[in-house]
Amino acid sequence: MKGLVLSGGKGTRLYPLTYTRAKQLIPVANKPVLFRVIEAIQEAGITDIGIVVGDTAPEVMEAVGQGDQWGVSITYIHQEAPLGLAHAVKISRDFLGDERFVMFLGDNVIQGGIKGLVEEFRQSDYNAQIVLTPVKEPQHYGVAELDAKGNIVRLVEKPREPRSNLALVGIYMFDHHIFEAVDNIRPSWRGELEITDAIQWLVDHGYRVRPYIHRGWWIDTGKPIDMLEANNRVLLEMSHQVNGYVDRDSKVDHNVTIEEGAEIINSVIRGPSIIGRNTRVVNAYIGPFTSIYHDCLVEDCEIEHSIVLEHCVIVGIPYRIEDSLIGRHVEIRRSPYKPKAYKLTLGDYSKVGLL
Ligand code: DAU
Repeated sequence: MKGLVLSGGKGTRLYPLTYTRAKQLIPVANKPVLFRVIEAIQEAGITDIGIVVGDTAPEVMEAVGQGDQWGVSITYIHQEAPLGLAHAVKISRDFLGDERFVMFLGDNVIQGGIKGLVEEFRQSDYNAQIVLTPVKEPQHYGVAELDAKGNIVRLVEKPREPRSNLALVGIYMFDHHIFEAVDNIRPSWRGELEITDAIQWLVDHGYRVRPYIHRGWWIDTGKPIDMLEANNRVLLEMSHQVNGYVDRDSKVDHNVTIEEGAEIINSVIRGPSIIGRNTRVVNAYIGPFTSIYHDCLVEDCEIEHSIVLEHCVIVGIPYRIEDSLIGRHVEIRRSPYKPKAYKLTLGDYSKVGLL
């Protein structure tokens, strides 16, 4: 089997972070979501992986390279514009050939990986396998309606009035019949060739599409709040270790990771949290549920339930920073103005002056 990862698109819901950065490269627990996707595919025994890239191709290619760090081989497939998930499949035909493949959206994080799922599909005679999971707001996703026996009746992309609470997770398995399907559908109201419509086409034409119900957690990291949620989940489940320096005056919980070269001075770090490579934390309180990426300085401040990207400087802030997603190279220092709460979604290279 081959793997196909979708890492194009614009990421508008994560502006301003994604003005300058591919959304798939934003880290969750200090590892880009896209890397987690590649790892999940590799764990399932697939080493030939295509990545669909768009405007952000250069930085995706720079970050991922040829796949050596995961022992996989990466082929980049350029998509001229984000014309839909089914369009991405269409342009990947030469790479995929006649092999069965798993398609994984580059901004999805799923509990437990996909090893079992891929294995089941590999050994089955299904033409496609989709992953469904119950969600609270199905109108934001592709939605599946099943009959009493659990067979697929209908799939609709972001319906105003969903007929079920079963969302399509961004992990799909196909055989070559999907190419016939993508050639036979038309763009949707949002101008995209929808994979949901292509799968419906398979169902309507008598192909065997197996719905698999996923019971663990799954997050489409489309919005800042979803990134924080994914961060919480991964921090809770990962195994933690201290590889950096912690001085005697600091208190670091057992479920905290301190990466190499990081320094914790006279601070309290509550877990689950992670402090990145070469980051300095001085006279500060951090966590729980906080990821500070590499090469940051955090001094005289408190940060909780947040993600801070690389090369940030956060110094001397009198109120606790909470529920925040802070981009790269951001500087936050004291200023004479009076915000009473900090709820920030800041773009890369932002500078914010606070009280
Ligand atoms: O996350 C699950 C949902 O993903 C499903 O429930 C929906 O049925 C499915 O259509 C999709 O919806 P989204 O609106 O969340 O898709 P989004 O536009 O965010 O794109 C998902 C990923 O695919 C993202 O990493 C960007 C990439 N992409 C997207 C498009 C439209 C491409 O590489 N090329 C594209 O043309």
